[in-house]
Amino acid sequence: MNAATPTVPNLAERRIVLGVTGGIAAYKAADLTRRLLEAGAEVQVVMTAGAQEFVTPLTFQALSGRPVRTSLLDPAAEAAMGHIELARWPDLILIAPASADVIARLAHGLADDLLSTLCLATDKPIAIAPAMNRLMWANPATQANVATLVARGVQVIGPGAGAQACGEIGDGRMTEPLQIREAVAQRFGHGPLSGVKAVVTAGPTREPIDPVRFITNRSSGKMGYALAAALRALGAEVTLLSGPTSLATPAGVTRIDIETAQELLDAALQTARGAQIFVGAAAVADYRVDGVADEKIKKNDATLQLTLHRNPDVISAVREQDARLFVAGFAAETEKLEEHARGKLTRKKLDLIAANWVGRGRAFDRDDNALSVYWPGGGRELPHASKTEIARQLAALIAERFHARAAAPA
Ligand code: PMT
Repeated sequence: MNAATPTVPNLAERRIVLGVTGGIAAYKAADLTRRLLEAGAEVQVVMTAGAQEFVTPLTFQALSGRPVRTSLLDPAAEAAMGHIELARWPDLILIAPASADVIARLAHGLADDLLSTLCLATDKPIAIAPAMNRLMWANPATQANVATLVARGVQVIGPGAGAQACGEIGDGRMTEPLQIREAVAQRFGHGPLSGVKAVVTAGPTREPIDPVRFITNRSSGKMGYALAAALRALGAEVTLLSGPTSLATPAGVTRIDIETAQELLDAALQTARGAQIFVGAAAVADYRVDGVADEKIKKNDATLQLTLHRNPDVISAVREQDARLFVAGFAAETEKLEEHARGKLTRKKLDLIAANWVGRGRAFDRDDNALSVYWPGGGRELPHASKTEIARQLAALIAERFHARAAAPA
């Protein structure tokens, strides 16, 4: 029976295309199939040629109760459900295990087999659970491919660390089937932030000087975007207030674009009404130019003087508007990390602050980061990892602190 129990998430009526690719972890995909079915999901397995070297399609057919799809050019299967139809069928395409090869092919938009074609032809969310040798995972080519997929909104589940089939120890083990199922359930809104509205600010602001020039900073938006995706994965309804970036909107997240600190302030005050969590990851310009020129400034003089005015503090204004809101900030520091971050935590009346070292090539516009997270009376280190992983840990911590605050006596 597929009825959900308290320990089994409810995936009833969720349709999942489970892509299985070549690797020793393919055998774990059989258990994953069983676990997804146990939670009530409909599962259509698609296997690559490599996967069939490890496990037979018959195994998955017996488990899922559906013929396994293996070929793009199979007239009989196409007659039952064509690949375009199949690309539209699921609520999620989940690739587990995802080999380095399939990750590379997805990143480059190849469509030379059924699974890659489905991924290219779908507008449904895609999640991957990578599994490979630790050096293949750490290879800059794989990391760049993963970053490309993340930027396109693909959810990356794991990989975990530990002993590998090749005898080595390190990152690259496929996440265990139960954890993958949990991540899938969370993205369908069954996580600890289910029913919670969250607002996340990300990226830089631009403060105009004249119609063609502006003052900005090095923020890429990667940290804030990863956090928006991670909060969404925990079930939150997320609005992302974004400064100018080149990043794709994370799946399931509503994005509002702003340019200046004043525009961010207006959008923040408006969207924070009715939200329960606000996270300020944006690098907001502290100053704006007094008297922005209507026309392009001509370079007639040897020097040019600009007068700068203090910008409003967005996160403080949001806190002032609603004392009940859970407000988390970031602190970007080049010295005295804890002292400065705790100072901001108190001054801005925040519930939590995530401090990162910046400058000398750290944090800004990188794919990795490390955070020291502080809250009144506590703290936790999130050691160096990809921004996706750091965001996942920070989102879990925010959820934990949010619920702890809600449970505390007023
Ligand atoms: O975008 P990436 O390239 O991924 O880089 C990530 C990051 C380094 C930008 C991010 O991790 C980060 O640290 N963001 C906060 C940057 C910052 O402005 O820090 P701050 O210490 O100056 O500000 C403290 C807090 O006040 C922040 O939450 C900030 O959003 C907020 N603030 C600051 C000034 C202002 N006028 N209004 C604000 O709301």
